[in-house]
Amino acid sequence: MSEALELNRARWDELARLHGQDDYYDVEGFLAGRCALSARERDEMTAAVGSLSDVDLLHVQCHFGLGTLSWARLGARVTGLDFSGVAVERARALATASGLEARFVQADAQRLPGDLAASFDVVFASYGVLPWIADVAAWMTSAATALRPGGVLVLIDGHPLTQMIDTAEPVRFDFPYQGGAAHWLPSTTFYADSATRLQTTHTVQYPHGLGEIVTAAVAAGLRVTSLAEYLDAESPQGRQKLMVRGQDGRWRLFLAGQEIPIEYALHAPLP
Ligand SMILES: C[S@@+](CC[C@H](N)C(=O)[O-])C[C@H]1O[C@@H](n2cnc3c(N)ncnc32)[C@H](O)[C@@H]1O
Repeated sequence: MSEALELNRARWDELARLHGQDDYYDVEGFLAGRCALSARERDEMTAAVGSLSDVDLLHVQCHFGLGTLSWARLGARVTGLDFSGVAVERARALATASGLEARFVQADAQRLPGDLAASFDVVFASYGVLPWIADVAAWMTSAATALRPGGVLVLIDGHPLTQMIDTAEPVRFDFPYQGGAAHWLPSTTFYADSATRLQTTHTVQYPHGLGEIVTAAVAAGLRVTSLAEYLDAESPQGRQKLMVRGQDGRWRLFLAGQEIPIEYALHAPLP
């Protein structure tokens, strides 16, 4: 495993231990029956797939399973995949606690285990996905390999434009739009709880522009049928200092008075 991957895995192991002790991940609400998915995640899935009954779904970068198990509650047969052993252990425990059937696999999303090939009707990933990935071409190839012909990749993530922005007023950028180069970023705080200081001191993140993402999907054999860019979001995904919350409860990001896209959603079936 590369040094960068190992560093990121240590960070996500640490976060997977902590998450759920904060208000960000509502584990109690989930166990009481609440759905952990955003309206956008559910709407995009409905638009791409329709009903989830009799659907085999692979949730890539599933973290500790709240979203994966929510898809199970909505009728899918689910497999969650994450490179964090702590996240996978917690996800399995959450499946047991919630009485939901699910399989969780520890693996690098860029190197899918062979036994998952051609096994899924949907590959899903959301919110905090590709900035952690060095090799988007390998990630897309993994997604395409996991799908059965006719299956679809549904990817929802923070817009790469938003990733660039350090402060909105004044406008300051501290991250490139694209190119995929590794950026070693010092940080000891995290999005779910800004008060806790982490033991891991760095992460490595990678800028991938929308053109690079779409091109990687097509090169992996997927057919891109839609790419939506969204100007609003249900959650600021930890970037509330940059965003404003409107009277409709939605979060938006303004630069010099203009709204910029903060999320995107890609649908890409395997022919
Ligand atoms: C921001 S979280 C995804 C959040 C998820 N949508 C949720 O709300 O729970 C990113 C996840 O990606 C995982 N991850 C990062 N790099 C990975 C890789 N190369 N392979 C597999 N999982 C990875 C992390 O362990 C973490 O669980």
